[in-house]
Amino acid sequence: MPAPHAAVDVRNLRKTFRVPRQHMMTLKERALHPFRRAEFDELRVLRGISFQVREGEFFGIVGRNGSGKSTLLKCLAGIYRADEGEIRIAGRLAPFIELGVGFNPDLTAHDNVVINGVMMGLSPAQARGRFDEVIAFAELEDFLDLKLKNYSSGMQVRLAFSLMVHSDAEMLLIDEVLAVGDASFQQKCLDVFYRLREEGRTIVLVTHDTGMIERFCHRVLLLEDGLVEMSGDAHEVGRRYLELNFERRAEVPGAQSEGGDAADVADVWIEDAEGKRVPAVAHGEPFSVCALLDVRERIDRPDVHFAFNTDEVLNVFGATSRAVAANDDEPFLPGERIVVRMTSENALGDGRYFVDCSLHGAERGMIAFRGRACEFVVFGGTTGSGLVSLPHTMRVEREMERVT
Ligand SMILES: Nc1ncnc2c1ncn2[C@@H]1O[C@H](COP(=O)(O)OP(=O)(O)OP(=O)(O)O)[C@@H](O)[C@H]1O
Ligand SMILES: [Mg+2]
Repeated sequence: MPAPHAAVDVRNLRKTFRVPRQHMMTLKERALHPFRRAEFDELRVLRGISFQVREGEFFGIVGRNGSGKSTLLKCLAGIYRADEGEIRIAGRLAPFIELGVGFNPDLTAHDNVVINGVMMGLSPAQARGRFDEVIAFAELEDFLDLKLKNYSSGMQVRLAFSLMVHSDAEMLLIDEVLAVGDASFQQKCLDVFYRLREEGRTIVLVTHDTGMIERFCHRVLLLEDGLVEMSGDAHEVGRRYLELNFERRAEVPGAQSEGGDAADVADVWIEDAEGKRVPAVAHGEPFSVCALLDVRERIDRPDVHFAFNTDEVLNVFGATSRAVAANDDEPFLPGERIVVRMTSENALGDGRYFVDCSLHGAERGMIAFRGRACEFVVFGGTTGSGLVSLPHTMRVEREMERVT
């Protein structure tokens, strides 16, 4: 049963590409085996996809590079024919899929707008009537006489996006539009997204930007390896997507560790509000940075430092347990395993962060250090920069009782 008012209904969609094997036959081989056929690899890109998009929904599709997102969108747009399965689409759609799809490089912007406008369901008169608007939005007034092949790729993107927005299509299919435009055009696209969402237009958007997903999408589909890994709430799917991206990189490149006789920083990790280890934290949500210390000698007035760095910026933020942790006066004693946990509302901007952790003692200086001890990703924030101050609390806990 199709859902009521489903704008898109996809059932068990499969698409396989046949790709010729890389190794080429030499002339001699070809002469010796004239009837040997070229061998093909089968690339099963979509392996049974089912989902529905409701009318008026802003629907996101995420997934790692090569997971099949663009192939899926091209199947929806009718650019590729599916091998198996069913696709039902209610209403006219306007695709924005790949640079230049549907455009003829030897024609001017005007002719391309008219031809493509008609393909998106406008009458020729309507398409001609909208030309000025399309060009004005794309800010291409000065380039009207140029053939499209002489447009820069950014200019082609502006034209294609503008045309899509000015068509009357009930549904828009958009693949990675923001990746190509410049900053002012990106802002324009965002404004359009807000407006279209308000108007209740059905939109299917492929993006790698989890911030976009959270800001706009009612529901999101996560593709992994040609299958639906997960679908539903934007926040949860965005989180799973980041986990998939980062879980295969448990070892942080460039990690360094220096332990002394007195103690080691045995482990450093990030926890969410429920105390679960996570590779990514949403902006504005509570999280903790935790360190496990192995203590072998008495350390008076111990002090644990965390430093957050990015690839570009050292010490975006630093925290110290001394004078902050309630029980900061107690010495660490031989045999103790100590967990230090810094908790904060996440005020960091989007990006990738590394944590250094060090242990210091009175009159002893630095006792143990782990550089790049863990990494994490922040998403869903609005600031582009990570230079912030974090309000925080800190606790020192004993995991094992003191050995006497
Ligand atoms: N026309 C084609 N012929 C052969 N293989 C193709 C074709 N189009 C895509 N593929 C392959 O299908 C797989 C999925 O590609 P697709 O472009 O759908 O991925 P994607 O999820 O859009 O990735 P990205 O995030 O990089 O845009 C890739 O392995 C790609 O090489
Ligand atoms: Mg793609």
